[in-house]
Amino acid sequence: MSLLEKKSGLVTGSGQGIGRAIALSYAREGASVVVSDINDEMGQETVQLITDAGGSAVFCHCDVSDEASVKALVDAALQHYGRLDIACNSAALSRGSGPIHQYDRAVFDQTLDMCLTNTWLCMKYEIAAMLEHGGAIVNISSNASLRGQAFNTAYAAAKAGVNVLTQSSAAEYGKQGIRINAVSPGVIRTPGLEKYFAEQPDMEAGLRKKAAMNRLGEPAEIAEAVSFLCSDRASFITGQILSVDGGGSVR
Ligand SMILES: NC(=O)c1ccc[n+]([C@@H]2O[C@H](COP(=O)([O-])OP(=O)(O)OC[C@H]3O[C@@H](n4cnc5c(N)ncnc54)[C@H](O)[C@@H]3O)[C@@H](O)[C@H]2O)c1
Repeated sequence: MSLLEKKSGLVTGSGQGIGRAIALSYAREGASVVVSDINDEMGQETVQLITDAGGSAVFCHCDVSDEASVKALVDAALQHYGRLDIACNSAALSRGSGPIHQYDRAVFDQTLDMCLTNTWLCMKYEIAAMLEHGGAIVNISSNASLRGQAFNTAYAAAKAGVNVLTQSSAAEYGKQGIRINAVSPGVIRTPGLEKYFAEQPDMEAGLRKKAAMNRLGEPAEIAEAVSFLCSDRASFITGQILSVDGGGSVR
């Protein structure tokens, strides 16, 4: 039996990168998936990839910064598949980097909103939909949250917030059978990251050199961990932050 058979799930930011890989993994493991993104074209492409491979998926436009849009996403899962068993909150972005004394308050606030507040907002509606029968949620954190990261303070602090949000909510909803974990990726080759490689040609070689396994991670390697944590095989795991980073956090 596949890991996620008979489950119904949603993935935010699943139009590309890590979110798309998670949606593909959910479907490959037997779940019915609501793919969501602000980019409709890319989201539809993810759905096409899933259905071409024989999986079940629908697209729902969702901007995770908009409460009505988040509510509509969870409603879409309930409407299409009758229930919500698993969810992964992957949509996030960093609005900039640089020294604190030159940083704009507005940019700091936007990064906090995009990484932390929006994750909380998604959880609010996902948890409400799972209260009667239980479920599993995975938030996508980042290794930037683990020991701090110079010049990336807003993002690192926001993702550290995601970790504590994960732990606190796991403690809050364990008795209702809702498990909540986070996966903390190391450096993963996604379109979001490749944008920076285009701007700084030496960046990829530098990152590889620093990596314990001498390579970057692939989105599918994050997705494997998310699908496991969402599955019944992880039935006694909650409140954990799992680094999937080729050893980056222990190097
Ligand atoms: N790539 C890495 O190396 C890395 C490392 C650590 C953590 N992460 C985390 O993994 C997650 C995915 O990152 P990625 O590299 O795949 O990103 P990405 O930029 O490649 O993809 C992000 C997706 O989110 C969507 N999105 C952006 N704003 C949105 C919004 N308001 N509402 C809904 N969707 C929105 C985008 O359209 C895009 O499809 C993020 O939480 C990121 O912080 C990535």
